[in-house]
Amino acid sequence: MARRKLIAGNWKMNLTASEGAKLIADLKAACDGSCKCDCAPEVLVCPPFTTIAAVLEAVKGTPIEVGAQNVHWAENGAYTGEISAKMLVELGVSHVIIGHSERRQYFGETDETVNQRVKAALAAGLKVVLCIGETLTEREKGVTNAIIEKQVRWDLADVSAEQLDNIVLAYEPVWAIGTGKTATNEQAQEVHAFIRELLGKMYCPKCAEAVRILYGGSMKPANAAGLLAQPDIDGGLIGGAALKAADFMALIQAAKA
Ligand code: 13P
Repeated sequence: MARRKLIAGNWKMNLTASEGAKLIADLKAACDGSCKCDCAPEVLVCPPFTTIAAVLEAVKGTPIEVGAQNVHWAENGAYTGEISAKMLVELGVSHVIIGHSERRQYFGETDETVNQRVKAALAAGLKVVLCIGETLTEREKGVTNAIIEKQVRWDLADVSAEQLDNIVLAYEPVWAIGTGKTATNEQAQEVHAFIRELLGKMYCPKCAEAVRILYGGSMKPANAAGLLAQPDIDGGLIGGAALKAADFMALIQAAKA
């Protein structure tokens, strides 16, 4: 069964509301209607919380979907600075990124809190882009697969096979994020295949076949075709190159089957 590719832009803490709307307008201009054809990948952009409303307005009439970059697990309450799944749903957001390595590295996210966020997002009807990946030290120690397995098992604890339909995984080796150092096609494919095999054991081989696994980490027009041609790479989660319309458009083109 062919998996439709997904090209997702993670804007991180970049672009104000007006800058975000301008980027969408530039993408629309570059798209000239071809984005709507069946062979096109699904396209998602994940702006900062304050920019979401403006971007939702800007994408009207296009197939571009809008996601958030994080979500809290509680329905509401005394959690200063946090945003709930219900708030995102009411806004019109379809997806949410959870467990990005920058959240894990700089904001104390653990697999336990990632799992709580995943469950809350799914319960509210959001689709989840769950990020996992090893650090450079872990790769050098040869424990990449063990780290990935620990993250996948913890982060998806209590997530049912049915709910798996609403999960996209993103393999983002931490050493490749924003560094210009991309995993080679082979390095990425090896981990993606490992993740799919693991999902097969945790759920069922058929369920694993249906799950999309994105690659993230310095993906750009120059290296996208090779990565996207790998059998277990189903798209990209893109940081830097998602901030420029021409680059993001080139990545969308590269994902066309
Ligand atoms: P870069 O594409 O800038 O390396 O960022 C990748 C990423 O972290 C996407 O979530």
